[in-house]
Amino acid sequence: MNQSDQTSSSAAGTSAELIFVPAASAIAREAGVRLREFLAQGVETEYKGDVDVVTVADRTVEKLIRTRLGEAFPDHGVYGEEGTRERLDQEYRWYVDPLDGTTNFAHGVPHFCVSLGLEQRAPDLAAGADGTVVAAVIYDPMLDEMYSAERGRGATLNGRPIRVSAVPDLAESLVATGFPSRKRHDSPNIHFYQEFTLRSHGVRRAGSAALDLAYVACGRFEAFWEFQLNPWDTAAGFLLVEEAGGRISNFAGGPFQLDSREVLASNGLIHDELVGLFQEMFAGRGLSPIPTPREFAERRAERARG
Ligand code: IPD
Ligand code: CA
Ligand code: CA
Repeated sequence: MNQSDQTSSSAAGTSAELIFVPAASAIAREAGVRLREFLAQGVETEYKGDVDVVTVADRTVEKLIRTRLGEAFPDHGVYGEEGTRERLDQEYRWYVDPLDGTTNFAHGVPHFCVSLGLEQRAPDLAAGADGTVVAAVIYDPMLDEMYSAERGRGATLNGRPIRVSAVPDLAESLVATGFPSRKRHDSPNIHFYQEFTLRSHGVRRAGSAALDLAYVACGRFEAFWEFQLNPWDTAAGFLLVEEAGGRISNFAGGPFQLDSREVLASNGLIHDELVGLFQEMFAGRGLSPIPTPREFAERRAERARG
């Protein structure tokens, strides 16, 4: 398989002008079909840490994607969650999450995806500096939804252009977040979960950061934030959100960086409001008290006594 072979069978629908998406979307689709097969046959769960799960599907599908990317783009580097580190001195580098939403997958919950984001790096770029994310593909094999984008050419879902939502404030928004599977005790995110829950239509914790970003891009969610994500989780979603007219930054509103471990994405309209809320909360203000279970039990007992 090479790039030109893939162009005619594009799943993105706008293959004529696109350079990377036609081949990448074919690879993501093949990978997604494998994930669906693994889900149907059932896989054993292993552990990377206390609760960080991995399955044979994660590893097998990363290998498949690595092989296919090597065939389609022999000069490109590949950086995958399950350990692939190939040709990282090249101008182009794919960030690969073969299965984003492993915990869902391992429990039979049909909400997960394949995520491929392509970064272009200038030859003199420092090792820790970001290049430009130029192409993105996220594929949900259970809904057969293919999200794709190339920089400057807009974002699409199954070939149709997508745009972020037009909701103007947090109070009318549905937002999303996630929680890390490692070092959970260090995460303050439950406080943010609480505040956003009180101030919006609700917070979803659906279990796939890449799909959360894709959902912001297509207007299903107004915003998404998470601590401690990795470039394979965010590279593709980052470009989708930008190309769909949204905004993505760190929690202070500064430029999003692939390894910054902070992602705040939105429809753009509510971004300043969200950054303001993060600032307030990091300064120790704006927190609504949550009754402790004991306080709740005492009040309940009081009510029962009349
Ligand atoms: C995880 C998912 C989840 C997020 C975790 C990620 P994985 O990726 O994106 O939504 O909350 O932080 O690690 O392990 O399923 O590829
Ligand atoms: Ca992931
Ligand atoms: Ca993964």
